[in-house]
Formats: sequence, structure tokens, C-alpha cells
Amino acid sequence: MEHGGDVYTEGILKGKELIDFSSNINPLGVPSSFKENINEALESMERYPDVKYRNVKKHLKNYMKFSSSYFDSENQSLQKYIIDEEDIVIGNGAAEIIDLAISCFKNICIVVPSFIEYEKNAVKWECEIEYSYLKKNMDFDYKDILSKMKNSEALIIGNPNNPNGNVIDKDKFKAIIDYCQKNNKVILVDEAFSEFTGKRGFSLLKDMENNHCIFIIKALTKFYAMPGIRMGYGVSKNRELIKKIQEKQNPWNINCFAEVAVKYVLKDQQYIEESLKWIEEERSFITHKLKNIGFIEKVYTTYSNFVLCRLKNMDCNKLYDLCLEQGIAIRKCDNFKGLNEEYVRFAIKDRQSNEKIIEVLNSINHF
Ligand SMILES: Cc1ncc(COP(=O)(O)O)c(C=O)c1O
Repeated sequence: MEHGGDVYTEGILKGKELIDFSSNINPLGVPSSFKENINEALESMERYPDVKYRNVKKHLKNYMKFSSSYFDSENQSLQKYIIDEEDIVIGNGAAEIIDLAISCFKNICIVVPSFIEYEKNAVKWECEIEYSYLKKNMDFDYKDILSKMKNSEALIIGNPNNPNGNVIDKDKFKAIIDYCQKNNKVILVDEAFSEFTGKRGFSLLKDMENNHCIFIIKALTKFYAMPGIRMGYGVSKNRELIKKIQEKQNPWNINCFAEVAVKYVLKDQQYIEESLKWIEEERSFITHKLKNIGFIEKVYTTYSNFVLCRLKNMDCNKLYDLCLEQGIAIRKCDNFKGLNEEYVRFAIKDRQSNEKIIEVLNSINHF
């Protein structure tokens, strides 16, 4: 399987229940603020959604302003957001926005290893691709990205990047933004996981306001635990690009359940606070424990809800099979460009599941 989250092939379709460490979804689950209001979606099912999604965009705009107190650093939260509804394009998951945004360019620089859809979409749209590889420590190679931008109309980069969870260093990235701004290039920043980074001010949302070269992609999928609702969005001051993407979309691409989700979960303060508390605790718990597993050579720095590890004397296929025998699905990373069978990725879940995977890995260690 190409992606994580395939609990069907070895699980459901074989009548087995697996603990899924291969996809990275907030274990607090679907927010109760959605469940309590689901009737609103049932009641609106018999009519078409607003084809312009005016209320959805209003809620997204409010969210980006309101959530600043949770995700911006202290000095950033003093600055005001100036996002307008016209700066937003909504999509059927972040995946639709990524795909259609990439389709607007003839050539693109893709930072790799990264979410494999970037490359698949670029190939599908016959874009020429320049690759910028992460450094050995999984940090971005800012100099290399800048040089690759000379031949590319656009860049796509994850912040945090999947599969390693590292984030953009804004000071080092500034030269790339300035270059793209001056030369009419576009930077697609995939922030599908950005909420998990907490109050550290890592998002480029604020930088987007004065730099029309920046296009941010976000979703309800990961932090609000709703992969099944398929709700994503793009935000940029580049109205031309927003319009180009909109022109490629089918009408009514978002259904009434996603509309209700946007209305309620994005102002669910209790859910946000509990999620931030959980991720800070569990990220440090699991990374610490993984460092003590004998066949794990390296645990990479992560600010997200997943951890990339390099194995020693063990390959990802063997580890995958051994974990599966004990009811756990992990993400093999050999199909990420730039990685090989030495790499695996683990989701960060609730304490009970995290303890379980550590127990399983320890048992394999002594095998
Ligand atoms: C980095 C990244 N961006 C985007 C997506 C797709 O998100 P969505 O399910 O909202 O389409 C994924 C899914 O795994 C991802 O890992």
C-alpha cells in the first residue's frame, strides 16, 4: 500500500482489528461538538449546499484569527490577521487543493522525502520536477531549495513535513520567500499537520499576508480527526491562483457534513486545549521510549504527531510483519523518495496505545 491508514487489507477485510500506527490522526477522535450538531447536516441534506460556500469561508476566516492564541508565539499574536473570504479556496480534503494547485504549473520543485501525492500529482499533470532532498539529519536544505527555484515556477514543501515532522526555520527560509516574491514564483506550503506543533508560531500563515507568493494548504483531517469528512482549504493573497484552482473544481465539492464540521469543531476550545496537552505529553513520552529500542538507530526530531525512525539490523518489511503479528500496523517508509527499507514512521497516539507499541517493539527487540 502506498499510504498509511490501510487498515483494510490486513485488518478489516480479514476480520481482524488492528491498532493503526500508520496514519496520523488525533486519537481524541471526532470532536463531540460535531457529533452533537450532526442533525443540522441531516436536516440540510435535501438541498444543495451554497455553491459559493460563503458561511464555510466565514468560519474558516474566523478560525484562522481565533486560533492564533493557540498556535502563534507570544509576539506574533499581537499582529492582526487580515485574511479575507476571497483569499480562501475550499477542497475535498487537502488532497484536492494540493492536486489542483500543482496542476497550475509547468514545473515544480518538490522537497523530498515528503507526502507522495505531491510527486504523483506532478507526474499526472506532466509537470517537470526538480527534487530538493532533505539533509541527512532530515532538515531542509535551504540553499539547495533556493537554487532549484531558478528553474521552477513553484515549490511544494510540508510544514511540518511528512514523514519526519520537522518544520521550516523562518529565518533560513526568508531568502526563498524573497526570491519567489520578486520573481513571481509560488510556494505551496502544506500545513495539514501544523496545529500539532502547538504554540510555537511555526505556521507561515502570518507571512502569507504580505507575501502573495505563499499559498497555505490546511485541513480538518488530522488535528480534528476527520479523515472521512474530506475537508481541506487553501489560503493565499494570490487571488489569481485561487481563481485558477476554483475554475478547475466541480461545483458543490464539499458536502453538508463537512459544512457542519467547519461550523462547530473549529471553535471547540476544549478540544483544541485537550489535544495540545495530549500531543506535548505523548510526543515527549514516545520519542524518549523509542530512543531506548535496540534496533532503532535514530529517532528524528518531530514537531508533529508522528515519528520517523531509522532502523539497524532490521528492515521495514520485517518489522511491519512482526508488528502485524501482534495486531499493530506501522508505516513502512521505503516508498518515500530519498528513504529506503531502513525507515519506518510511527503515529503518536494515546498513552495506552503508545505503551502497547513500545511493549511490542521491546518484545521484538528481545526476539
Ligand atoms: C502531508 C499531507 N498533506 C495532505 C494530506 C491529505 O490530507 P486530506 O486527507 O485532508 O486530503 C496528507 C494525508 O496523509 C498528508 O500526509
